[in-house]
Amino acid sequence: MNATTKVHAQWSSRMGFVLAATGSAVGLGNIWKFPYMVGESGGAAFVLVYLVCIFLIGLPILVSEWLLGRRGQKNPINTMRDMAEKNNASKAWVLVGISGVLGAFLILSFYSVIGGWSLAYIKDAVVNNFSDQNADGIAAIFNGLLASPAQLLVWHSVFMLLVIGIVARGVTKGLEGAANILMPALGVLLLVLVAYGATTSGFSQALSFMFSPDWSQLTGKVVLSALGHAFFTLSLGMGIMMAYGSYIGEDIDLLKTARTVVIMDTVIALAAGMAIFPIVFTEGLDLSSGPGLIFVTLPLAFGNITGGWLVGLAFFALLSFAAITSAISLLEPVVEFVEERSPLSRATSTVVSGFAAWALGLLALLSFNVLGDVLIFGLNFFDLLDQLTSKFMLPLTGLGGILFMAWHLDKESVRQELNLDIYDFSLWSLLTRYLAPIAVLVVFFTNL
Ligand code: PFF
Repeated sequence: MNATTKVHAQWSSRMGFVLAATGSAVGLGNIWKFPYMVGESGGAAFVLVYLVCIFLIGLPILVSEWLLGRRGQKNPINTMRDMAEKNNASKAWVLVGISGVLGAFLILSFYSVIGGWSLAYIKDAVVNNFSDQNADGIAAIFNGLLASPAQLLVWHSVFMLLVIGIVARGVTKGLEGAANILMPALGVLLLVLVAYGATTSGFSQALSFMFSPDWSQLTGKVVLSALGHAFFTLSLGMGIMMAYGSYIGEDIDLLKTARTVVIMDTVIALAAGMAIFPIVFTEGLDLSSGPGLIFVTLPLAFGNITGGWLVGLAFFALLSFAAITSAISLLEPVVEFVEERSPLSRATSTVVSGFAAWALGLLALLSFNVLGDVLIFGLNFFDLLDQLTSKFMLPLTGLGGILFMAWHLDKESVRQELNLDIYDFSLWSLLTRYLAPIAVLVVFFTNL
């Protein structure tokens, strides 16, 4: 069947949909990226701005993307094209879909490199590398990994192959069942690590670092990072949630479901921070050690807990699983795009798209070692890919989605679709027509 005419199947249940959306949202962004951004951005001020961005901007955009997807019933590019046509809007809206696909491709390339680190750490846990190590020993393991292009290459390749394999065989929905058990398990394990953190001397310092703001740390740059991360962590601005929306049945309450997904995503990120920062403070580690943060902190805990190798193994296995479910959602729209625009079959499109992202990922991988000194606009390849997507492409694409929803769709039908009374709907309109878009633009332009 041609992708243009394809009307998708639907999620088996609301639960299936929530799991798939959460599977995309919860990933390395929550556990790897959020804590190190908090560390680099000075703590609680960043956390609070991030929470505001998540609830006031992220949540309405998530609902907008689902709503557009459910109405369009197609892939994001065709959805935007059809919706623009139907609502007498400019054809240029299709750019929202196109830039989403491009963003997904760019993110996948470096996401797979970090997914590879997580896989490498499964191996380290199994061979009990973390036991009885001090902070220097743990740092040496991590630095050794970064310094070795060969090791990084192996793990990046394994990660991408897993993702390609799953998407090519079209078994992504099969993961729904696994996610049912594994995502809650990840949550429980994080709580165990938070409990461990609570026994360390740095716990109260960690809590005040995360929750008691020093507003002098708040700069335009910090706000932009928080905004960008809100998009990244909820998988917004990439057409992904729009694609998922095309599978949602009419009976599903979008606002309620979005609230569930957003809360789960936020709780996991905060728990990750609360597991990591006590170790940072107890051991006197560098708060702003960047992307390596979880890899030089949590293994210290695993080395100290009895049976810690098993906890470490479980943790990195679950983190890898969460990373894979997110990576699948990144590859999917790229594959759909290639499949539709080329004569290639689905399987070949998957291999070609995955391979291209893998190849671009090599630049990200080498920027941790041999290409470390190659800078573009003062950034290495890894940072460039990360910042270009999080700080520019995602917010602008997400903005496109919400503006289209708020200004081009018939208001009354949206009100009914969201089950809002007149009063709540006027709040919703205020938020989606003005507040959220203006906030995105202001943050964006102050930083240009
Ligand atoms: N939301 C995922 C995470 O937090 O790890 C990453 C991600 C997945 C970003 C899918 C964007 C996306 F479309």
